[in-house]
Amino acid sequence: MEALDLSPGEHRCPGPSTRDIIIADRQPVPEALLVEAPAYLGDEDIGYDRYTSPAFFDLEMKKLWPRVWQWVAREEELREAGDYVTYDIGPYSFLIVRGADDVIRAFYNACLHRGTQLRASDSSGFAEQLRCPFHGWTWSTEGDLQSIPCRWDFPHVRDDMFKLPQVKVATWGGFVFLNMDEHAVPLEEYLGVLPAHMKDGWDLGRRAVAVHIQKELPTNWKAAQEAFLEAYHVVETHAQNLPFAGDANAQYDLFGEHVSRFVHTHGVPSPHYPEAQTEQQIADKMHLPAGTIVPEGGTARNVAATWRRDNLGRKWGLDLSHYSDSEMLDSIEYHLFPNMCMFPGVSLPMVYRFRPIGMDPGRTLFDLLFLRPLAEGESHPEPVAPVRIAAQESYGSAPGVEPWLGATFDQDTNNLIQQYRGFHASKKRGETLGNYQESRIRHLHQTIDRYLNA
Ligand code: FES
Ligand SMILES: [Fe+2]
Repeated sequence: MEALDLSPGEHRCPGPSTRDIIIADRQPVPEALLVEAPAYLGDEDIGYDRYTSPAFFDLEMKKLWPRVWQWVAREEELREAGDYVTYDIGPYSFLIVRGADDVIRAFYNACLHRGTQLRASDSSGFAEQLRCPFHGWTWSTEGDLQSIPCRWDFPHVRDDMFKLPQVKVATWGGFVFLNMDEHAVPLEEYLGVLPAHMKDGWDLGRRAVAVHIQKELPTNWKAAQEAFLEAYHVVETHAQNLPFAGDANAQYDLFGEHVSRFVHTHGVPSPHYPEAQTEQQIADKMHLPAGTIVPEGGTARNVAATWRRDNLGRKWGLDLSHYSDSEMLDSIEYHLFPNMCMFPGVSLPMVYRFRPIGMDPGRTLFDLLFLRPLAEGESHPEPVAPVRIAAQESYGSAPGVEPWLGATFDQDTNNLIQQYRGFHASKKRGETLGNYQESRIRHLHQTIDRYLNA
């Protein structure tokens, strides 16, 4: 058998690949969707200490987070001079402000008098000046010291030495990023293939935040996002999706140091699904309106994509006819190191972020956003305020999340709780990954190591 001659990492699920399925649609798709970039990165176990150890967490806080580009806001949250948001990660807190000169800056969110945060964590709004709530020291929105009560008592404070310290800021795709490292490579370089892949119709800058949910997950930030970097768990965790979702034949790509991707298809059954189905039977399970008919010779995939194109196009006042079935249906997920996932597709247009909370390696804040495309000429509406839900609350309880999708996210949360408990309980001290389907997880860890060892 030919398969025996393959090297580790080259084995694939029998049957049609993701690429075969997309090509069979016979539609032009963005070139990026036809690129394949698998890589075998080894098969050593990944130690559980990397998730649970305070020492490892501390190392990440010192050597990883201060040196990576991290998404901190959407540009539409900072439309007017004086608009600000705060961004916390681990012990760090930043205040991101659009200055009167229209420049977005990120300041360390701590007063230069006695350290008080200038704005509370998780706050956002508008400020003409940045005034500390403790004794009232005040800076301009560009970070220049403006006033100190009882200035006569501070002859040693010089205005030029007391500008608010800043970190680097850059924008791409409507996202504002910061990097604490003044020697960091420019964001465009850090993004690797992303700008090139996103340029054909996947302009995330022309999208608006339609839903923003925040949930605390009781696990490490890496474990939280790793549950979203593979489709290997679908067969066990989300078995309800097997009749219409390709999982074991999902495609995994690694692009340089900072970017990875999976593409898994919808409208085709999982290779795990045993029963033969007609295209009509597949369509019947895809959460389409009752009575949706697959015409003679048609496919469930095409019918579902067509319905979504019409339905979402009407809802958003957009012509979506240029999007292929794949872009309308499939889970196309890019990961940007270290903690951001984005889905440039149209019907599941999610963005994820996983941030450590405080100094506990077992606490993560999950931001889940849905970005809808803007209509031609439409300017960005007011961003929606984040809805915070408790760990036990269903995602389906948040406005804008369809029940079937909420239930799917809930299944993931349940796993994360038990997995983190198991990390501590396990006699075996590390996880054993699949060579292909879990390659993005290994890629993440190897890039982390490059930062920690630099
Ligand atoms: S701590 Fe900010 S003014 Fe005193
Ligand atoms: Fe999942």
